[in-house]
Amino acid sequence: MEYTFPVTRTTSPKEKPDVNALGFGKYYTDHMFIMEYDEGQGWHDGRIVPYGPLTIDPAAGTLHYAQMSFEGMKAYKNPNGGINLFRPDMNAKRMKNSNDRLCIPQIDEDLFVAAVKAIVKEDADWAPDAPGTSLYIRPFIISPEPSMAVHPASRYWFIIILTPVAAYYEGNDKELHGSRIWVEENYIRAAVGGTGFAKCGGNYSCGMIASEKAKEQGCEEVLWLDAKEHRYVEEVGTSNAFFKIGDTVYTSSLTGSILPGVTRDSTLQLLRKWGVKTEEKRLLIEDVLEAADNGSLTEAWATGTACVISPIGLLKYKNMLYGMQTGIREPEMDGWVITL
Ligand code: COI
Repeated sequence: MEYTFPVTRTTSPKEKPDVNALGFGKYYTDHMFIMEYDEGQGWHDGRIVPYGPLTIDPAAGTLHYAQMSFEGMKAYKNPNGGINLFRPDMNAKRMKNSNDRLCIPQIDEDLFVAAVKAIVKEDADWAPDAPGTSLYIRPFIISPEPSMAVHPASRYWFIIILTPVAAYYEGNDKELHGSRIWVEENYIRAAVGGTGFAKCGGNYSCGMIASEKAKEQGCEEVLWLDAKEHRYVEEVGTSNAFFKIGDTVYTSSLTGSILPGVTRDSTLQLLRKWGVKTEEKRLLIEDVLEAADNGSLTEAWATGTACVISPIGLLKYKNMLYGMQTGIREPEMDGWVITL
């Protein structure tokens, strides 16, 4: 099905930011996409409007009970001056799974991708082209419906905003240094049966306390362990974690508490294509640390749309530092790039 969306253009376009000082999420483009949902009517009135504040009832359920979902994706300037999107169908599918978990109505995958393409095309001149930069795309769903009772809303907004960004971890602007990661033993990110596999705000707000603790420990991010035994490796901060031990690359299996990252899936597919042995399993932190001790842990890294592929240099566990070497490869991405 073909989708077209009416466009109301801004009458006061903003000045573009300096590409050398983009940071992450500091600047927003001239327009945004918005579409409404009403029970009985479904999703309707998708349109592009000037970027600007929302007027929302202070009693809106989203503000109190966090019924919301979101996605993170990137658009890149290609060498011909066009724009590439990376596997947007994966984000459309994941948002469906998140919505199911949070009792939010589904958005048809083709409609999701059409809306992303439309807003990115509209603000394509905001896509930066300096190395390591991109146009970060943030689709999200909230409900403007006032309600103090805890139940799924009957009205929603689907909004897409765009922000030109540089590296999520500032150090990666300069060189791919390995970050220090704090292994968190007390706080947890998600438990099986909860919302760990969904992309929703609550998964991130509950993690902030451990990220702050990691910083106090001189680390940049936190390595989450499982909620039940606090022994199995889950994720790194806002991203998935990979460990190369011996000749095999390990990452946590999708147990229900792990976010199924698009970069995680792409990494596994590329490694397999290159003939590297991979295993998705529940990995014990003791085994990772022992591998660091005996030298068989040679590489570790985090994968995510925002943080791309960020090498891990050191793990800090109970005041002990465990180091490893780091390395990078150039990815091949046949069939994953959609040129607008
Ligand atoms: C992403 O990688 O796109 C994310 O959603 C992480 C974000 C919370 C910065």
